[in-house]
This record gives sequence, structure tokens and C-alpha cells, in this order.
Amino acid sequence: MAETGAAARAVDQDRLWQRHVEMARTGATPRGGVNRQALSAEDAAARNLLAGWAQRRGFSVSTDSIGNLFVRRAGSDPTASPVLSGSHMDSQPTGGRFDGMYGVLAAFEALEALEDAGITTRRPIEAVAWTNEEGSRFQPGAMGSGVFAGQYPLADMLQVKDWKGVALGDALAETLRAAPAPARSGCGFGLAGYVEAHIEQGPRLENERRTIGVVTGIQGSRRYIVEIEGEEAHAGTTPRAARKDCFAAATRIAAAMYAATTDADDTLRFTIGRVEVGPGSPNTVPGRTSFTIDMRHPSDETLDRAERELGAIVAGHAAPCTAVIRRIVAVAPTAFDPTVIDLVRGTAAKLQLSNMDMPSGAGHDAMHIARLCPTGMIFVPCERGISHNEIENAAPADLAAGTRVLVEVLAHLANR
Ligand code: GLV
Ligand code: MN
Ligand code: MN
Repeated sequence: MAETGAAARAVDQDRLWQRHVEMARTGATPRGGVNRQALSAEDAAARNLLAGWAQRRGFSVSTDSIGNLFVRRAGSDPTASPVLSGSHMDSQPTGGRFDGMYGVLAAFEALEALEDAGITTRRPIEAVAWTNEEGSRFQPGAMGSGVFAGQYPLADMLQVKDWKGVALGDALAETLRAAPAPARSGCGFGLAGYVEAHIEQGPRLENERRTIGVVTGIQGSRRYIVEIEGEEAHAGTTPRAARKDCFAAATRIAAAMYAATTDADDTLRFTIGRVEVGPGSPNTVPGRTSFTIDMRHPSDETLDRAERELGAIVAGHAAPCTAVIRRIVAVAPTAFDPTVIDLVRGTAAKLQLSNMDMPSGAGHDAMHIARLCPTGMIFVPCERGISHNEIENAAPADLAAGTRVLVEVLAHLANR
């Protein structure tokens, strides 16, 4: 077994940064971000880039039935289950260059660093790019990891449609035609551990001047859709009292929801992120409105209570329209494995990297994989904590530092 630090020293900061620069060309936006929707042509381009790099290093590539893409560096024991690391390559519509991509490229850099340092591990180590983490095109997000973990049935997910009516199964087939990779049968296999690196997407590490976030868990999250039906009418002739204006009802419902979800310590996260109003004509009183809700909190009981309040608000504020609220996704809070948390913290300390324990406010593929095997996450700072924004930024030295911790942790887990 190699001495502690040999793998970390082989991490190449410039190579890692250059890979981010190259990946950011797929789906590049004019304001310096990326729009790389799940299973789009841009996603296929990113897959081809990663697979090409992998093949040039002699790593094997495979894809499973939901399109998760794996890059494998063999271990000395061909019968041992692998240790896995990665994140996602899809982005928000106005996304940044690091959300998700960093975790994939850090995992790939870890494989390269082990190769360069000539370190053999007992178990194989695989890098993964999970399909559709963001959920901005196809809902639910964290879909590839969710199917892998048995949380979502594959057959149901293949039928999910995007807002243009394209079925995920068709988009997946198209993507795999454009970015072919050897098929791995089914979806899901035994894992010895999973570690995901990610930018923090919040301001704590930067504010506290720490390089490494030792992630202890992920808060619970829920998504809903509220659908309100009114009656279309002429905007010039219909008196207020005779209208069933569903957008007016939506604003009453939304205002009551914002008020009900404001908590004293600002822990409950409540977001209305997409509103659709139909028929969408300036001079017709709208007859259909829908909006999405994303709500998160570390406690499932609090989420249950808030969910009951949202239901009561919809029922109480819709008249004269009618309204329903439907839950689309519920993911329970995740607590990461204490041994992986200790290993991340201990490795950061050994590498003399300042660190702090912290929960994750954002969702990650690790929340599903934590149900399967010992799992943890490593955060690095991002500029002003800004993410889900084209100006998202991170420092090359911080990205490399997180990768140094990652490779040591992976090597340790792969020799257990
Ligand atoms: C992932 O981007 C999330 O919504 O937390
Ligand atoms: Mn992400
Ligand atoms: Mn994201």
C-alpha cells in the first residue's frame, strides 16, 4: 500500500482546471456559464469528451439502462465490488461550469492521479456521471442515481416527458446514438462505498475561510405542483366580480404560502420557480395557472407540517377558482456514514487543509446512493456561494485541494 499523500501529490491542478475549461465549451452560454440539459446534444458532447479521455488512459467505459456513464480503473481483486465517485454533467438552463461537473472531473482526476502514481488498489474505483441530476428538463432530478438505488422504477422514468413532450426514453436513445458506450446490463450493482465531490453552492466555506467542507448529510426536499382552474373571459368587458381569474387566485395562494413558510431561524427553504399561465394572451382573463414549489428542511416532521399548511392554503384561497396541490417528489433527509465522514475529516487534516463539518442545503446524487453503501461528500468553496447562475466560479487551487482529499479517501476505501 502506498504511503498517505502519494496519491494526493499526483493530483494535477492544471490538468483538472483544463478539463473544466474544455467541458465548459459544451453548452457554453454568452455570459460564461453552460446550458447542458440532461440527454441533450450538449450532454452527448460532454459524454463523448469524458469517454475519449478515459479510453486514452486505458480505463473502461460503460453505460447502464438509464444512461449513467461509468469509467472504471481496475483493482487487483477482480471479484471485489468497486468504490464509486462522481456527480452529474447536466446543468440548469442558466447554469455554471462547476455544479456537478466538478464531482465528475474530480473523480476522473483521482483515477488519473492513481495511475500516474502507480498505485494499485484492491478494489476497482469507478468515476460516474449520473443522468439528469438537475431535473430542470425531466422531473424528478437525481434520476439516474435514484433509478440506480431502486428509488424510482426505470420503466416509469423512461416515460417521463419534458415540457416539449419528448419522452425521456427517446431522448436517452438519441443521446446514446450520439455518444455510444458499451452497455452494462440493468441498473445498479454492489458498491463498497461512494464519495461525491461538489462545490458548496453556499457561502459558508468562503466566509469562514476553510478549504474543505466535511459534509455530514443532506436536508430533506419535496417538490409540488399547484394547478388552478378558472374561466377564460374577455379582459375588456368582464367585471371583476364576474371573473374566475386563476392568476389572481395563484397570487393569493402564493402570498399566503410565503407567509406560512417564513420561519424565525430561516431554515425552511420555499421556492416558487416556474409559473405557467394559460392561455397566455394579454386580453384574456387567464383560465389555467400552475406553479412549482421546491421546499426543503433538515427535519421530515417540519416538512410534513409545512405540507399540511400548503394544502390548507390551496383549499382556502382558490375560490372562485378551483385548485389542487400534488406532491411530485419527496426525498427524506440523508445522514452520511460516520466512518466516511471521519475519513474525509481525517484526510483533510493530514493534508493540512482547513476544514469544517457542514450539512448540504442542495440535493445531490449521494442522497440516493447513501441508501446503498457507506457514503460521504466533500465540498469546496465557490465564489460568494453563488450557484445555479452562469457566473458561478471556483478557484483552481480549491478544486485541486478537494480532489486531493477525494483520491486519498477513495484509495483508502478501495483497500478496505
Ligand atoms: C440540485 O441542484 C438541487 O436542486 O439541490
Ligand atoms: Mn449539483
Ligand atoms: Mn444544481
